[in-house]
Amino acid sequence: MASTLALHLAGIETAPDGEPESLMSQDYGPITPLLEDDTVSEVMVNGPNQVYVEHKGQLTLTNVTFPSEEALIRLIRQIAAFVGRRIDDDSPMVDCRLPDGSRVNAVIPPLAVDGSSLTIRKFAKDPFTVQDLINAGTLTAEAAAFLEACVKAHFNVLVSGGTGSGKTTTLNVLSSFIPDNERVVTIEDAAELQLRQPHKVRLEARPARIDGSGRISIRDLVVNALRMRPDRIVIGECRSGEALDMLQAMNTGHDGSLTTIHANTPRDTLSRLETLVLMSGVDLPQRAIREQIASAIHLIVQQARLRDGSRRIINITEILGREGDTITLQDVFHFEETGVDANGKIQGRVTPTGIRPNAITKIYSKKVPISPALAALYPDRRTPDFPVGVRR
Ligand SMILES: Nc1ncnc2c1ncn2[C@@H]1O[C@H](COP(=O)(O)OP(=O)(O)OP(=O)(O)O)[C@@H](O)[C@H]1O
Ligand SMILES: [Mg+2]
Repeated sequence: MASTLALHLAGIETAPDGEPESLMSQDYGPITPLLEDDTVSEVMVNGPNQVYVEHKGQLTLTNVTFPSEEALIRLIRQIAAFVGRRIDDDSPMVDCRLPDGSRVNAVIPPLAVDGSSLTIRKFAKDPFTVQDLINAGTLTAEAAAFLEACVKAHFNVLVSGGTGSGKTTTLNVLSSFIPDNERVVTIEDAAELQLRQPHKVRLEARPARIDGSGRISIRDLVVNALRMRPDRIVIGECRSGEALDMLQAMNTGHDGSLTTIHANTPRDTLSRLETLVLMSGVDLPQRAIREQIASAIHLIVQQARLRDGSRRIINITEILGREGDTITLQDVFHFEETGVDANGKIQGRVTPTGIRPNAITKIYSKKVPISPALAALYPDRRTPDFPVGVRR
């Protein structure tokens, strides 16, 4: 199917039947070929006459159209109905998943002003591995080795970034570093993570029914997860009051937890986290919140979608502690742009800043195995234990 998109872009229409009969037969009307095309990662329908895709990191307008707004709404209704959800005047927005795990969001008029909107983030059949991220230039082998050591040493890590910057993909790769003998509980709004570990429990939040009842939030699941004897809690995205429960969990012995958050710089990540904690409704003074953040979070991995469509880790930043009311940060890796090639691709790499990470001492003292390249970058400088009575 790799050539389907090329056909669309070349102006060759597929049959615009627009009348999906049954989702069991995987008929999604005019967008079926786009969903079947492995080179397309996202399909975005803005009303019946405009269908965009993300293809190799770039947004591209296709010539796929729906015969009418009604045909588009009918498809959206069928997708929602397939997972037991409804979309109508009373509930004009829906988040759900296709049977293959692809993430769907739909909004119908009058909320969607120019016609129904349907956004499908396709499920990665073959999820990115750490090597894929290295090959794509998202990070370097050295940076990956550092992150692997941090995950193995049970640091609490936040992956931060804008919409579609690759947070979930990076979180999935970080989770792959969790050793197999640990029990992992994952908590998500829509289950996207694909952990390869055998010992995992996957929890998915549930939206409210039409009458408003039955909602199980991420926060409920975080509280529940603490009773499940987890070695690790991986939260797909922290976007509300669950931030407080997560920080408390991290501060009370559930080290090694991982999550993502929506922010554009490591410093913004801290203010965003503060705002999310306030959304919990628990009235905490700012100072107390900062104290919790500074002691709970060890590392921020800042992700970005650059202007050429590539996804890069642009900072790996340690949280060192507090000085007065300010949380102190230290960049240990950052993205250095060196130019733009003839095809408009941004050149550069994630480079060590030259600052020796505080984390490295703990990594050595916990005897976490590290790659020779990382050991060469940050040699073990701990002083050997001297016998009692011997002067140093
Ligand atoms: N490192 C990467 N290199 C190239 N493409 C990537 C990379 N990471 C993610 N992608 C692609 O970018 C898209 C968005 O990825 P992902 O879902 O991980 O982003 P996100 O930041 O979690 O998005 P959202 O804000 O919607 O939750 C996916 O289609 C994915 O295939
Ligand atoms: Mg995500």
